[in-house]
Amino acid sequence: MTIKDSLRKNLPWPIHYVYRKIRALPYDFPRIIKFLFLKPITKITFWQKIFLISNCYRISYFVDCPHMEGEMIEVIYQIFSIPSGKQGVIVEAGSFKGGSTAKISLAAKIAGRKFFVFDSFEGIPAHQEKHGKNIFGGDAYFPKGSYAGSLEEVKKSVEKFGDIKSCEFIKGFFEDTMPSFKKPVAVGYLDVDLASSTKTCLKYLYPLLINGGTLLSQDGHLPWIIDLLSDENFWQKELGTKIPKMQGLGKEKLVVIEK
Ligand SMILES: C[S@@+](CC[C@H](N)C(=O)[O-])C[C@H]1O[C@@H](n2cnc3c(N)ncnc32)[C@H](O)[C@@H]1O
Repeated sequence: MTIKDSLRKNLPWPIHYVYRKIRALPYDFPRIIKFLFLKPITKITFWQKIFLISNCYRISYFVDCPHMEGEMIEVIYQIFSIPSGKQGVIVEAGSFKGGSTAKISLAAKIAGRKFFVFDSFEGIPAHQEKHGKNIFGGDAYFPKGSYAGSLEEVKKSVEKFGDIKSCEFIKGFFEDTMPSFKKPVAVGYLDVDLASSTKTCLKYLYPLLINGGTLLSQDGHLPWIIDLLSDENFWQKELGTKIPKMQGLGKEKLVVIEK
């Protein structure tokens, strides 16, 4: 058993939580500083920034969140990097228990943008993909039904910790729900684990992305996602474009895809 497993099993949650957040600080801290002190394009006060950061930490204490605060703060930073005059909604693909959804919904409210949440609400769908290790050497397996959070659970998390009025929930597999979605997208957050799911999200969301908008993939540590994102043939054939500019590809869990 690894130290991590043993801690997870034996330490009381408050201690485990603090341990986890301290360990994540080298990644999270620079992103918090960037969000706090870089001038945003959409208007947000310093205190609203503090509110969003503290709520990220608060939500992770109460809701099972498989992401780091720095990653969510980067997503939020991207939301405030879009000029308020530019049209575009925020999209999340993959909400699990609603932790990331609640965090983004608070930012969506302050930015005055509608927030669309896509998920099966049944967890990872059946697939034929071969998984194994992530680029940091950790196990990365995504069996059918893993990361399941029901629509009721997600709504409950958002009602309690986020802003439910900003959200619209779109239930079903992306393959079925995304083709009819036609709204301009300012920022899209993809956290879907499978290459097939990421492919569907890119195929339907990238064409909707406004100029200057960003898609963020939370799965940049998974070799099959790196292969997809760097596949010239995929971008050309499915989207009729060259590989877009990306930050973090092959190095970080969160990859920022620009348009
Ligand atoms: C890792 S979880 C998301 C975690 C969440 N963003 C968070 O940070 O708390 C992955 C999610 O993707 C969803 N998902 C993956 N592929 C899907 C597909 N093809 N259609 C619908 N939902 C899918 C799963 O149901 C699951 O909720």
